Amino acid sequence: MSLLDVRTIEVVYHRAATAVQGITLQVPAGRIVTLLGPNGAGKTTTLRAISGFLDADDARVTDGDVIFDGEAVTGWLPHRLVRRGLVLVPEREKIFETLTVMENLQACRRGGDLDAIFTYFPQLAGRRRQLAGYLSGGERQMLALGGALLCQPRLLLVDELSLGLAPIVVRTLMEAVRRLRDELGLTILLVEQNAAAALEIADHGYVIENGRIVHEGAAADLLAHEDVREFYLGGARSRAGRTYRDVKQYRRRRRWFA
Ligand SMILES: Nc1ncnc2c1ncn2[C@@H]1O[C@H](COP(=O)(O)OP(=O)(O)OP(=O)(O)O)[C@@H](O)[C@H]1O
Ligand SMILES: [Mg+2]
Repeated sequence: MSLLDVRTIEVVYHRAATAVQGITLQVPAGRIVTLLGPNGAGKTTTLRAISGFLDADDARVTDGDVIFDGEAVTGWLPHRLVRRGLVLVPEREKIFETLTVMENLQACRRGGDLDAIFTYFPQLAGRRRQLAGYLSGGERQMLALGGALLCQPRLLLVDELSLGLAPIVVRTLMEAVRRLRDELGLTILLVEQNAAAALEIADHGYVIENGRIVHEGAAADLLAHEDVREFYLGGARSRAGRTYRDVKQYRRRRRWFA
């Protein structure tokens, strides 16, 4: 049985706009599963529905079930899910900029090993007393992951690790995530724009568009899939030099697997 089992969930914003329409996905224990798809597809909404962070935006799971470790946890609040070991690293506001690196790491600490964090993210070790607001983009992601690890997760949901970062930094981060699976046996659901980087470390992937899963498969099969290659892999290379905003707009115009 999968550690996380999401069954045909539907999420509605403001009682009106349906952002997620019947998404079903599984994350087996000890695996990395990635959720890919264009802007506005519903990736963040899905992660927030699983982790309980919908209330602030007047959103609600109106149908379906979230099963975590065999238990229905649909609609549970985040603090209760965190105690069960279901932890979200959110898309935005991953860290507290006005607190130090150490203070950030302590924020959700439930007895995890601080020194172990620095073995995965050695760049943070020398910056313990620095304000997090001065960290580079990559270091911020490391700090967010490190802080989440100190919540002692069994399932880590990660929203956009690579956004706006140089390829070498992305590689370092992905390698760290891979080690979390291989060395700690952590289960990870990774939302990514960078399909190439995510599929490199993932076991399985889902492609979501307009709030629905349009494709799924083993990571290796998705990497070889013609449409995935054109849209996210080959396409990314041919679009090199364009700004992220251009790419975002380009992506908005495209439809997946039309
Ligand atoms: N707070 C909100 N209120 C109303 N609608 C929202 C809200 N947040 C997101 N949506 C809508 O829900 C849909 C899915 O958005 P979501 O943020 O989940 O997409 P995403 O796949 O994470 O996109 P991106 O790649 O840009 O992060 C979009 O149509 C979006 O406009
Ligand atoms: Mg998002």
